[in-house]
Amino acid sequence: MPITGHTRLVGIFGYPIEHTLSPAMHNAAFAHLGLDYAYLPFEVRPDQLERALHALPALQIVGVNLTIPHKEQALNYLDGIDPQAELIGAVNTIKVEGEHLIGYNTDGQGFVQALRLKAGIEPEGKRVCLLGAGGAARAVAVALATTKIQQLAILNRTLARAQALADHLARHFPQLRVSAAPLTEQGIISQSQIIINTTSVGMQVSDDLLIDSQLIPPTAFVFDLVYHPAQSKLLAAAIQRGARVMNGLGMLLYQGALTFEIWTGVKAPVEVMREALICHCEEA
Ligand code: ATR
Repeated sequence: MPITGHTRLVGIFGYPIEHTLSPAMHNAAFAHLGLDYAYLPFEVRPDQLERALHALPALQIVGVNLTIPHKEQALNYLDGIDPQAELIGAVNTIKVEGEHLIGYNTDGQGFVQALRLKAGIEPEGKRVCLLGAGGAARAVAVALATTKIQQLAILNRTLARAQALADHLARHFPQLRVSAAPLTEQGIISQSQIIINTTSVGMQVSDDLLIDSQLIPPTAFVFDLVYHPAQSKLLAAAIQRGARVMNGLGMLLYQGALTFEIWTGVKAPVEVMREALICHCEEA
């Protein structure tokens, strides 16, 4: 699509930013629908985040995504925040409303939509095991807690972080059964229906398996937020066990679709966005 004086701008702030797949996904969607928007990557240093965000209304930019390392820091510069983003303690999407910056987090909801729409799994009533307790884990855990899962077991290398996340969830979702344990105590995996890796372990081909794969029930669904490689060692091991699996591309896709809808008010063309992602992910 040619860029003209009418083109509306959106984008992403990150540092580094060169590996982002989001421009390909959103620009494919705009082109498909004939929407006169363009999505640009911006390399924004952490010490420049405040200035960059405050420039958005002046530049009449419609909104931006935020990625590493800005998702938490940005909370300090917002004029309004969506309740789920507040519970997660991070924003991945900003919409500019006049002079105001409104923060959202579509990561957790994107995960739940990938689970429901792509994997066909309804989380309500399920026993879930979450590996990791960092930013990605928080987004997934909060979104899952709103779906009325039956039980959430958080396993993390650093027990204190797992415990802090469990305490946070217990405070805000009193009906949720939530527990924390170190990664060395993996027994709960064998009773889990959904197992989710939110750690970065698996991104390097040299990474060891995070868990004892013999504990994965063949009836379980295993979700790895890692999408590069497309099949992590964890997913390969889960398949060996007979489990169904999904990588993190689905979450990336649906968080993008939700963001697209926040910015444009138009239903996102999910299949077009999926194709753009797959195509660019293979090149990456
Ligand atoms: P993100 O925002 O991507 O979730 P993060 O907040 O830095 O990143 O969290 C990284 C997660 O991966 C944490 O759960 C971390 O465990 P610790 O809390 O113990 O640091 C986990 N992680 C990273 N490298 C790991 C490794 N080699 N083994 C086990 N867990 C690891």
